[in-house]
Amino acid sequence: MSGTNTNPDWHLDHDTGMIQGTRATLPQLSAAECPIEGMYEKHFNQRELCADMDALAATAQPRPDLARRILVNLSRDLPAHFEDEEQALFPTLRARALPEDELEKILTRLEREHEIAKSAFALLNPALACMVDGAPPMQDDRDALWRLSAAESRHLIVENAILPPLARMHLTPEDKRALLAEMCARREQSPRMDSACARALAKIEYAAIGEQT
Ligand SMILES: [Fe+2]
Ligand SMILES: [Fe+2]
Repeated sequence: MSGTNTNPDWHLDHDTGMIQGTRATLPQLSAAECPIEGMYEKHFNQRELCADMDALAATAQPRPDLARRILVNLSRDLPAHFEDEEQALFPTLRARALPEDELEKILTRLEREHEIAKSAFALLNPALACMVDGAPPMQDDRDALWRLSAAESRHLIVENAILPPLARMHLTPEDKRALLAEMCARREQSPRMDSACARALAKIEYAAIGEQT
C-alpha cells in the first residue's frame, strides 16, 4: 500500500500490521440463529464467485468491475469462510462425530483443498489487481480462473453433500451458539496485513477511498 491516506476513519497500524477503523463490511450472516444454515448460505455466495470467475475467464476484454468483485471475495469473504470451517466447524464436528461417520478422511481432504485454493488465490491476486486497474485478462490468468472455479465448484459439491447433514445431526445447541459467536467475532476483526489477500483488499479499499475524496 502506498500514498497518503486522507480518510481519518481508516489507517494502517504499523505496530500491529492491522487495518484500523473503517473497512468494507462483510456480508451479514443470514440465518443468524443457526451457523449451519449461515455456512450453507455462504456456499451459495461461493457459487456466485465461481460464476464470476468463469465469466472473467471467458473474456479477453477488460472487466474491472468483475475483477474487483472476484478480488474482494477472494481477499475477504472466502478467507473468513475457510476460517469458519477450519477453526470452528471442522474441530467441533471432529469432537462430535461417530467413528462410523468416517469423517476424518473427508475433513483432511477438505482442509488440503483449502490450502491448495489459498496458494492459487495468492498467485492470482497480482493479476486480478491489474485487471481491477483496467488490464485485460491474460490467457494464463484465464486458464487459472477456469481451474480455480472448477476446483472450488467440486469442493462445494462435496461440502454441501456431507457437512450440513452431519452438523444438523451431531451439533448441540451449545455447539451452535459457540460456532455462531466465533463466526461473528471473526467478522468484527480487522484483516491482518501480513497476507497477500489482505494487502490486495487494502489496496482496493484505499483506491475506493481516494475516489471518494
Ligand atoms: Fe465451505
Ligand atoms: Fe471448505
